[in-house]
Amino acid sequence: MLPGRAEFPPDFLFGVATSSYQIEGHSFGGAGPTHWDSFAATPGNVVRAENSARACDHYHRWPEDLDLIAGAGFDIYRFSTSWARIMPEGRGAVNAEGLDFYDRLVDGMLARGLKPALTLYHWELPAALADLGGWRNRDIAGWLADFTEVVCRRLGDRIWSAAPINEPWCVSWLSHFEGHHAPGLRDIRATARAMHHVLLAHGRAIEVMRGLGMSNLGAVCNFEFAHPADGPKAAQIAARRYDAIYNQCFASGLFKGCYPDAVLEGLGPHMPKGWQDDFGVIGAPLDWFGINYYTCKRIAAADTPWPALQEVPGPLPKTAMGWEIYPDGLHHFLTMLARDYTGTLPLYVTENGLASPDPLSDGSINDQMRLGYFQSHLAACRRAIADGVPLKGYIAWSLMDNYEWALGYEKRFGLVHVDFETLQRTPKASYHAWMKALEPRA
Ligand code: FCB
Repeated sequence: MLPGRAEFPPDFLFGVATSSYQIEGHSFGGAGPTHWDSFAATPGNVVRAENSARACDHYHRWPEDLDLIAGAGFDIYRFSTSWARIMPEGRGAVNAEGLDFYDRLVDGMLARGLKPALTLYHWELPAALADLGGWRNRDIAGWLADFTEVVCRRLGDRIWSAAPINEPWCVSWLSHFEGHHAPGLRDIRATARAMHHVLLAHGRAIEVMRGLGMSNLGAVCNFEFAHPADGPKAAQIAARRYDAIYNQCFASGLFKGCYPDAVLEGLGPHMPKGWQDDFGVIGAPLDWFGINYYTCKRIAAADTPWPALQEVPGPLPKTAMGWEIYPDGLHHFLTMLARDYTGTLPLYVTENGLASPDPLSDGSINDQMRLGYFQSHLAACRRAIADGVPLKGYIAWSLMDNYEWALGYEKRFGLVHVDFETLQRTPKASYHAWMKALEPRA
């Protein structure tokens, strides 16, 4: 059982999320190549070198997928637009077929009573822009602004909420320092530039949307609780550094107009010229802030150059991703962000969920572990609300099993099972539990 609507404030909203590249099928509809296509085609980057050419074929099956969202009773659908589907070269010519697709999709949401929550960029950078340096190139702020203008001139009048970029930490650190996501770099200078340019591009996109008269604009960042691995002081310092890079850096840029000292001690020498002058754009006022939360990490010191830290395994039960289940971390971030950064600004949990193997048995899937995860994290949300946090909604990741980036199709996060041979959708037990919880209030 999941807590019903009556357990939350009357205006609290529930939703599910997906992203374009993970579900649509990038080979359809005239989309241009992206850095994820080339990353996946390079041996060793993605499990079984799987790509998103077909994915869930949401490009053709979207009416069925929207029916599933509305059928469970969700209020919000958080989706994203593929830059390369709309502008195959990243700049200039618009692919009318791509823009028409999102136009139909948004109308389809409205026809079903769903609130469209748009993310403009959820990671599939057009390859032509990657060739120009991608997030390392300051010009990307202007490129994203132009893309935003194209999308929002067409869709902006029907969008319920919009955020420019999903998870700045993944776009920059995970992809340019750790090399786990496209473009697969491991370079500190590239990282410093990407981190700053992601926020600059965010600010420019917000300016464009405000200029078009749109409202309910926000930002979405991801957070991971950092436990020191053990007692010694060195681990505590390492965990604080991890926390600064992961959890404080982007919120600080957006809401305080600066980066933490613990981040600049490493990235400072590699920052782009004049970065201190960009916070006027970066700090454009927002209407809400979104928190993506999945897990915690155990951090120990490491004998390496900055940031001189390493992750070590922890003791809690783990999901199929190997991620520890730690709902207290969600409560921590909700209260910490409201206290230290966002004040009375409405907060949303914009992603939360788990991967589990979920085998079909007799035509149904009993994903009890996912249900337990939702229960414990919804309880953390309720505690935060009771503590006075202005939390206004919760969005589960994800509607259906999909392309889990470097882990290919192996890790299943869906409330709905997808058979990647037949593309058949089968709602799991957790989907049915949401349907029950989301019944209208008596
Ligand atoms: C988040 C991403 C999302 C999905 C989940 C599991 O970091 O935003 O696309 O991969 O993790």
